[in-house]
Amino acid sequence: MRIVSGIQPTGNLHLGNYLGAIRNWVSMQDSIEEQGGECLFFLADLHAISMPHEPAVLASNTREMVAALVACGIDPDRSTLFNQAQVPAHAELQWLLNGTARMGWLNRMTQFKDKSGKNREGASIALFTYPVLQAADVLLYQATHVPVGEDQKQHLELARDIAQKFNNDFASEEAPVFTLPDPIIPTEAARIMSLRDGTAKMSKSDPSDMSRINLTDDADTIMQKVKKAKTDPEPLPSEVAGLAGRAEAANLVGIYATLAGTTPADVLRDFAGQGFGAFKPALGELLVAKLAPINARFVELRQDRAALDAILRQGAQKARALAQPTLEAAYTALGLVRG
Ligand code: TRP
Repeated sequence: MRIVSGIQPTGNLHLGNYLGAIRNWVSMQDSIEEQGGECLFFLADLHAISMPHEPAVLASNTREMVAALVACGIDPDRSTLFNQAQVPAHAELQWLLNGTARMGWLNRMTQFKDKSGKNREGASIALFTYPVLQAADVLLYQATHVPVGEDQKQHLELARDIAQKFNNDFASEEAPVFTLPDPIIPTEAARIMSLRDGTAKMSKSDPSDMSRINLTDDADTIMQKVKKAKTDPEPLPSEVAGLAGRAEAANLVGIYATLAGTTPADVLRDFAGQGFGAFKPALGELLVAKLAPINARFVELRQDRAALDAILRQGAQKARALAQPTLEAAYTALGLVRG
């Protein structure tokens, strides 16, 4: 079993980022060793140039994301943690796969339609071929499993189609070049919403800092933000059905359940009939207990550029070695002479 997944580097990391992809990666890392497998996690910095961007911001977001991943529990000695830009095999394999990927397949990708919007002619070529790079990311390492959000399922299916066609066209059935990866899509993805509006996702771009819990927030700030979080005057219901139409209440209960590793039904069993005056301090304390160790590590590490660069360098070295045999096999299968 080999798990490979990528994440685009973003800044201003918050609770939603942690309870989304990052925490999921940490639990995979911690469970895969018993199964004799390994994990590769990378920053998709090459994907980030498919949209307009500031070079200095990309560089600092890449380092910030590494700091967050390590602070949240990704161990660079147990998992291979790196950025694409230091492993040229990603870009090389993408080019080789461009011969196999079909225009018609990419034309069906909904992310390109969404991100290019009304300005298709002005979109970058990179945005169009983005899914081919993503296919290269996973095929390069013979990934068996790829954890992704629901929105990336289509890209994973494309990776399988590319692998299948390449194997068909250029390899024998007994000795395929690529493994067809299976997606791992979280069933009950915790959707963490804004603390000011239970119908909007918690977001780094919300102008109100009170709308989110940042990984840089200290204990007092967290308690304050929870205390000020928007709610309604009703006490908590005894069953999940009672949260219908109460987006803010549902969000706070959901955050509590996710952090405690239980379900909203369990949380409501404990807090049924209680008002937010009782629930909010409990939630705040739980958040502080879970986030304080992460916050301490993150705040320290994010300013240690030398340490972050060393982590990425070490990860890239491991990744390059793992990628090499598959890259060579792909060149050779295509009839490209490599001395
Ligand atoms: N496109 C993914 C996202 O935006 C990030 C990504 C890039 C990725 N390459 C990948 C995810 C390979 C899984 C596997 O979320």
